Amino acid sequence: MSENQAVIECQDISLIINGTSILKGINFKLTKGEHCVLLGLNGSGKTSLLKLMSGYGYPSEGKLKVLGKYFGEIDLRILRKRIGWVHMDLKYDIPPFMNSIEVVISGNRGSLVIYEDAEKSELDRAMHFLELMNAGKIINRRFGSLSTGERQKVLIARALSMDPEILLLDEPCLGLDPVSREEFLASVSGMLIKRRDLTVLYVTHHIEEIPEIFERMMIMDRGNILVQGTRDAVLKKEILSHIYGDEFTIKRSGKRYYLQFKY
Ligand SMILES: Nc1ncnc2c1ncn2[C@@H]1O[C@H](COP(=O)(O)OP(=O)(O)O)[C@@H](O)[C@H]1O
Ligand SMILES: [Mg+2]
Repeated sequence: MSENQAVIECQDISLIINGTSILKGINFKLTKGEHCVLLGLNGSGKTSLLKLMSGYGYPSEGKLKVLGKYFGEIDLRILRKRIGWVHMDLKYDIPPFMNSIEVVISGNRGSLVIYEDAEKSELDRAMHFLELMNAGKIINRRFGSLSTGERQKVLIARALSMDPEILLLDEPCLGLDPVSREEFLASVSGMLIKRRDLTVLYVTHHIEEIPEIFERMMIMDRGNILVQGTRDAVLKKEILSHIYGDEFTIKRSGKRYYLQFKY
């Protein structure tokens, strides 16, 4: 796939579930290696959109093309293997007694549990991805004993071990204290610097959680993409007030942004 080719292309996508309109006329393209943030309040449709893009379900209307294939023309089970979708609910599926390196190996094997002992090559490979996520020190820790931030790192390493072309991160900072959050975001940025080939869509509802490496942004509001553009162009009061109201100011510190509410 050439550099400027779209790896994800949404053409007028809508999603209706049980008569309720969840996504409405979504249009955007992501090209290879782009790092994009999807910002929106709870219930705006972010997870529903990610779910579709990762090959779980079909849009009700519109066309969705992922990695060069239109939905409807490709077996979604094959497509899913090329997309790393990391979301908090995964942690409930991972057996807590497995250690971090086993969790990553299980991803590479395409299962949740590993039944056979790992070979040296599998251990080396898993170690590589854990180190890429700055989690080399916790390889022997039980998954159930890890902190939230450590778990997120392991789950990202697990997704990377499947060699995805697209990485979808759904609110990976949820539940992290400010110190863990900064350390986690630095680890994600460090990984992305080494993996420029990855196309990443990163979902959050906090502008504080947007690392510098994400140069592009989309804002989602009640099932619509309200605006999209460069991070600096989108993070403006007149734009963010559509989702956050008027009682705030935006602060900038270096390449990071913060919200300050007046209440
Ligand atoms: N399976 C479903 N059936 C009915 N409504 C749903 C379903 N999944 C999501 N929704 C609704 O769609 C809206 C968007 O949800 P979601 O995509 O989870 O938003 P976000 O991730 O931005 O918080 C919410 O109002 C949610 O209740
Ligand atoms: Mg969500």
